[in-house]
Amino acid sequence: MKNLYIETYGCQMNVADSEVVAAILSENYTVTTDPKSADLFLMNTCSVRDNAEQRIRKRLRELAALKKKNPRMIVGLLGCMAERLKERLLNEEHTLDFIAGPDAYRTLPHLIQEASEGKSAFNVILSIQETYDDIDPVRYDSNGVSAFISIMRGCNNFCTYCVVPYTRGRERSRDPKTILHEAQQLLDKGYKEVTLLGQNVNSYHWKEDDGRAIDFASLIEMVAQLSPKLRVRFATSHPKDISDSLIEKIANYENICNYIHLPVQSGSDRMLKKMNRVYDGNYYLERIAAIKKMIPDCSITTDLIVGFCGETEEDHQDTLKMMETVGYSSAYMFKYSVREGTKAAKDFEDDVPEEVKARRFDEVMNTQQRLSLESNQQDVGKTFTVLVEGFSKRSEEQLFGRNSQNKVIVFPKGNHQIGDYVEVTVTRCTQATLIAD
Ligand code: SAH
Ligand code: SF4
Ligand code: F3S
Repeated sequence: MKNLYIETYGCQMNVADSEVVAAILSENYTVTTDPKSADLFLMNTCSVRDNAEQRIRKRLRELAALKKKNPRMIVGLLGCMAERLKERLLNEEHTLDFIAGPDAYRTLPHLIQEASEGKSAFNVILSIQETYDDIDPVRYDSNGVSAFISIMRGCNNFCTYCVVPYTRGRERSRDPKTILHEAQQLLDKGYKEVTLLGQNVNSYHWKEDDGRAIDFASLIEMVAQLSPKLRVRFATSHPKDISDSLIEKIANYENICNYIHLPVQSGSDRMLKKMNRVYDGNYYLERIAAIKKMIPDCSITTDLIVGFCGETEEDHQDTLKMMETVGYSSAYMFKYSVREGTKAAKDFEDDVPEEVKARRFDEVMNTQQRLSLESNQQDVGKTFTVLVEGFSKRSEEQLFGRNSQNKVIVFPKGNHQIGDYVEVTVTRCTQATLIAD
């Protein structure tokens, strides 16, 4: 057996894909945690913002030194950056021996063979049906407690700023039988939590041979019914199709977590329209109200883009207002980054000056830090069930895990172990963490 080292960048889909890659290569390679011992070095990459790509290019330059010491090591680049830049990446980055796009992983053994013979090897063909549904992912970096299950691939939404529809291709759903099989296998191995993954899980749909349609609400119910001991999470939901039937399932099943990541991107109707998000602020707030009504203790998080093309001070204020109204428990915040090939790059001007973007970003971040702290303060005194994931970074005497709301809770170890469900009472908090007994 040879040694495989994989470095994964970007979203959870990439984490799940790297596990599929490890499985595809498992006949000849075992995963190592030591890059120096690698016969094959893979980077699974992200293109979503320019700084994501710059980080990867920097890493490739560092790799040149490692390759000098170990000339037989083969270096391959996978994922979204391979798909976006295609063969030209091989000319630009001489450390690379081959590249493979997100739908080309079944051809990896062949690409590696070609590369080892010194041929220029690449496959960036996108598929309309590939879901890797028959492949059992190798969970090489797992805590043995929680795992990702990819339920669909691609995206058809074409938000004007976003590169994902180009790097991941068209949306397609995976056969539910194979999803349930994967979840059951994880349960049998002692896993306690699965996260169902897709760029937009709410548009999951499958037609059985008998004509019966399965949507995301029915899929998540089937997974939740496997065992009350299995926690079920999902990411990401597009606000345009988060249905009442899904919210009801979350409310009705104790083991479907009370946590929804619902990226709003902006609080301004004008910006939302320009982003092609196909909802406006009122619609979004109506969905938030429905969630809060049916699941009173649901935590809601979001993604925000500041400084999108033409964003005025008033648009920016609308975003701050939206944050306050929803009261997000946490948020991922980004400065707009132009992505070549998208509609925004072609038709709109990236006209918000960098210093204005930076100032608005700080305002959004400060607002969120306060909201996160306020959200955590409301939990002080409450009792939660935590699924233990590991030891706290600070001390071996402390464990950490998450509650249903996906908040991290740290508490004294006692006799508890990783993978246990533990009842804890929150005594104090920081903006990032709940501290409990
Ligand atoms: N499919 C998911 C997330 C995709 S990418 C969804 O639609 O919610 C994750 C986040 O990156 C997006 O939600 C968005 O906030 C951000 N993002 C995407 N493209 C971007 C760009 N060009 N500049 C800055 N942020 C971007
Ligand atoms: Fe990108 Fe929009 Fe698709 Fe999300 S829904 S991946 S932001 S195009
Ligand atoms: Fe990045 Fe591709 Fe995910 S661009 S965010 S790794 S889908």
